[in-house]
Amino acid sequence: MDKIHNKYLLPSYILTILFSPLYIIIFFHHLSVPVAGGSPHVYNPKETIFLYCGSSGSSPASTRTWIGDVESEHFPLNQSENNASTTADPSQQPRTVEKIPYMKARLSRYQFSYTFNLTPGQKFIRFYFYETSYLNLDRSKAFFSVTAGSFTLLSNFSTQLAAIDSQQDTIFKEFCVNVQENQNLNITFTPSQDYKDSYAFINGIEIISMPLNLYYTNATGETEYPLVGRTAGKLFSLSNSNALETFSTQFAPVAVYQTARTMGNDTKVNENYQLTWEFPVDSAFTYLVRLHFCEFQPEITVTGNRVFEIDIANQTAETRADVIAWGGDRSGVPVYKDYAVTMGSKENQKKQNLSIALHPAPAYMTKYSDAILNGVEIFKVDNSGSLAGPNPDPRTTTLTSGNNHSNNRKIIIAVVVGVVSSFVAVSVV
Ligand SMILES: *[C@@H]1O[C@H](CO)[C@@H](O)[C@H](O)[C@H]1NC(C)=O
Ligand SMILES: *[C@@H]1O[C@H](CO)[C@@H](O)[C@H](O)[C@H]1NC(C)=O
Ligand SMILES: *[C@@H]1O[C@H](CO)[C@@H](O)[C@H](O)[C@H]1NC(C)=O
Ligand SMILES: *[C@@H]1O[C@H](CO)[C@@H](O)[C@H](O)[C@H]1NC(C)=O
Ligand SMILES: *[C@@H]1O[C@H](CO)[C@@H](O)[C@H](O)[C@H]1NC(C)=O
Ligand SMILES: *[C@@H]1O[C@H](CO)[C@@H](O)[C@H](O)[C@H]1NC(C)=O
Ligand SMILES: *[C@@H]1O[C@H](CO)[C@@H](O)[C@H](O)[C@H]1NC(C)=O
Ligand SMILES: *[C@@H]1O[C@H](CO)[C@@H](O)[C@H](O)[C@H]1NC(C)=O
Ligand SMILES: *[C@@H]1O[C@H](CO)[C@@H](O)[C@H](O)[C@H]1NC(C)=O
Repeated sequence: MDKIHNKYLLPSYILTILFSPLYIIIFFHHLSVPVAGGSPHVYNPKETIFLYCGSSGSSPASTRTWIGDVESEHFPLNQSENNASTTADPSQQPRTVEKIPYMKARLSRYQFSYTFNLTPGQKFIRFYFYETSYLNLDRSKAFFSVTAGSFTLLSNFSTQLAAIDSQQDTIFKEFCVNVQENQNLNITFTPSQDYKDSYAFINGIEIISMPLNLYYTNATGETEYPLVGRTAGKLFSLSNSNALETFSTQFAPVAVYQTARTMGNDTKVNENYQLTWEFPVDSAFTYLVRLHFCEFQPEITVTGNRVFEIDIANQTAETRADVIAWGGDRSGVPVYKDYAVTMGSKENQKKQNLSIALHPAPAYMTKYSDAILNGVEIFKVDNSGSLAGPNPDPRTTTLTSGNNHSNNRKIIIAVVVGVVSSFVAVSVV
């Protein structure tokens, strides 16, 4: 049962994507062939920056070359209090297979800033933190904020609490931010004022320009997402003045009810099955949810073969999801559907589960009582310029095992999947 399940629900190509632009292209090629049949348009990001903080010169890694921030145009010493920062080595090597950018850090008790001269448009930004001891400083004092332009991306952020919570000593934080015309993007790290001896550090910064029309319609327009729930029929507008945090999750098994059958005969039984995924998210933010589908089972060929319902955060998002119909009455067409959902502040809980549940439509609507989902992307939308959420509560457990590269790979990288889906959408048109 598990095997069948995995095969149809979470194809390994979504789960094991590597991070480099090269992979975006390769991946897209693979996916596009059966879809378009022709030669796809390949996206070449205008900017790809891999900045290895605390290092100098260039450091080739397996899929990319990192450039050190020492004497770099991105780290001007006359800006902010950059000259008060220092470079530092970790007290021990990370357990990741890929050691770069974790073998160096830039660290300071004062504010420091990077500056990037970028073309206008949407940028994907990823911060790499390796939580360990540097210069014998107290790890629990690494409390800091990170801003990019006018956006607060992280605030009062504790790398130690984040590492303990995720049980990973390497931490990624990923964002999408729009850069206006003729503006440098300044990324600033500020140690928290609330703690004596607090400091900030960073190991690596990655910036990649994103294609237009990926999550935002175009350079000027707004994209409207159906808002699920009580406010049914209402739309949520995403504009260039919004920043997003991409939600990457270990795809450790997150399907909590792995009971769905694929192509079972017993519709009565299937009708009562439900597939649910739970994603812990910060309260009091709006989230964009992009669901990816593609029907490729031989039995599912025409509209009405497999019709199902989709609930997001316990609220109806679709009553008649029919992937074949969405693909223009054809099978093998990858499609995605976007939704917005607001997670209120419930009983002062820091986090809530954003659930995605699928279950078959009533038997008269569908030939097979079944459901399908191929991939999920979730984005947090800024609240008045801030994406910062609270730290997780301290746990009594300490970090026992670090992550390794094979774990890292199992992260759904929104930009990668997103780039793919946008091309697919283009080629379908
Ligand atoms: C750092 O820069 C500031 C202002 O640019 C300057 O006042 C200060 O003396 C510099 N400190 C060092 C250690 O160079
Ligand atoms: C910092 O130095 C650069 C190059 O020397 C110069 O162009 C820039 O204006 C300086 N910035 C400040 C804030 O002094
Ligand atoms: C970025 O920092 C530089 C140097 O402090 C400053 O001149 C520039 O105005 C800043 N850019 C933005 C967009 O804030
Ligand atoms: C951007 O999208 C909006 C709404 O879809 C549209 O009206 C506008 O013409 C588009 N602008 C450009 C430059 O494509
Ligand atoms: C469906 O039912 C038929 C007859 O009862 C049986 O032969 C067949 O193996 C079943 N198929 C599946 C997929 O369970
Ligand atoms: C959804 O329903 C479950 C079970 O009733 C509940 O535990 C959970 O808090 C609900 N989630 C939201 C966002 O209301
Ligand atoms: C979210 O769901 C998981 C798995 O069902 C559960 O362990 C966890 O306690 C839930 N978290 C919240 C905040 O409800
Ligand atoms: C900063 O985070 C710590 C740990 O979660 C928390 O105890 C503290 O209240 C936070 N401070 C602020 C100002 O939010
Ligand atoms: C990485 O993790 C995988 C899965 O947890 C495990 O099988 C593998 O042995 C680990 N590799 C290293 C080098 O620790």
